[in-house]
Amino acid sequence: MTSVLPSPSPLPAAALTLAPALPARTPAGLVGGTPLLWIGEPFTDPGRGFWAKLEGRNPGGIKDRTALHMVARARERGRLLPGAPIVESTSGTLGLGLALAGVTYGHPVTVVTDPGMEPMMAGLLRAYGAEVHVVRAAHPVGGWQQARRERVEEILAARPDAWCPDQYHNPDNVTAYRTLAHELIAQLGRIDALVVSVGTGGHSAGVASVLREHFPALRVVGVDTTGSTIFGQPAAPRLMRGLGSSIYPRNVGYSLFDEVHWVAASEAVWAARALARSRCATGGWSVGAVALVARHVAATLPAEARVAAVFPDGPQRYVGTVFDDDYCRRHRLLGGVPAPAPDRIAHPGERVVTRWTACETVVDPLAAGAPPAGPEATGPDAGEHGLAGAAR
Ligand SMILES: Cc1ncc(COP(=O)(O)O)c(C=O)c1O
Repeated sequence: MTSVLPSPSPLPAAALTLAPALPARTPAGLVGGTPLLWIGEPFTDPGRGFWAKLEGRNPGGIKDRTALHMVARARERGRLLPGAPIVESTSGTLGLGLALAGVTYGHPVTVVTDPGMEPMMAGLLRAYGAEVHVVRAAHPVGGWQQARRERVEEILAARPDAWCPDQYHNPDNVTAYRTLAHELIAQLGRIDALVVSVGTGGHSAGVASVLREHFPALRVVGVDTTGSTIFGQPAAPRLMRGLGSSIYPRNVGYSLFDEVHWVAASEAVWAARALARSRCATGGWSVGAVALVARHVAATLPAEARVAAVFPDGPQRYVGTVFDDDYCRRHRLLGGVPAPAPDRIAHPGERVVTRWTACETVVDPLAAGAPPAGPEATGPDAGEHGLAGAAR
């Protein structure tokens, strides 16, 4: 393969890194145009590496893109009237994006969450003017995710003008990420493999569909957490949030994936921490899981292959979890270095996986006859962070 990256600029590297971003007239103007960082040795094997798209450099995180887009489209279609309230169930990242969209377009924002939301996140949302409702009890069958949805329904019933973006099933949550794909193309020129986490399925479907149009041979690798139902495993207690789900979001672009990897929390913690120490650019559960898989993809493809990975947010909100030794010890997450390569199964139904495992058969569990919604995982962690991977 030949490189199509632009040839080196005559400017010294320091001058390039100081190139200022364009001035923004609105806070929404700060969204997008995120940087790309090379992740190489010592995190990766010698001579191998991947490009990380640092979505944590948006004001809130990756979901700023979708929040602004979903709100703009709903306004255009008359589904969201000027000044009407926005109500959504979220445990964080989308809430920050909606707060930004609320400020940008002039809508009050109510976020329904659960006790697993980090105090810092709840504080930030309130600071940005959002109303934060915390459900206090998990639904006996559907867990926290269901309890949150029911509270959203109650609020919507009381406010008929209110609008809920419904990030799991709203197709605008996919098209919102076309910009991210175009940025990657502009930054890298050619892309051979894309590694992306999957929660609602929005950014993986949005980015991969555009990239495939340009690079038909693109390898798309999805990253999920163990205990998530998205790719056909049974629901189980999960610590990791952001990626994974206990339902079957209709935004997941199953046909786009060549391969899915399930990663366990301890493996994501190892990778997030190793990244922090070696590259100073890291994030939380999803970044750790994506980095672990991207490192492996880069090691297995030819050295010239250009691998892009999406890092959805930064590390700040994870200082009390992923980066906290007491928390990690309590949850037995400091168990050592993950295996150099994933276990492999031929089909998601072959067995229940509890550590890093890959599968090249990617099927939509609903099309394969799964029940319409899995009960949310509950377990020893459910009262704290075992909130079963509500997308953020
Ligand atoms: C931190 C983080 N990582 C990954 C994801 C998964 O992204 P998506 O919902 O686009 O699949 C989310 C979604 O909420 C998230 O907040």
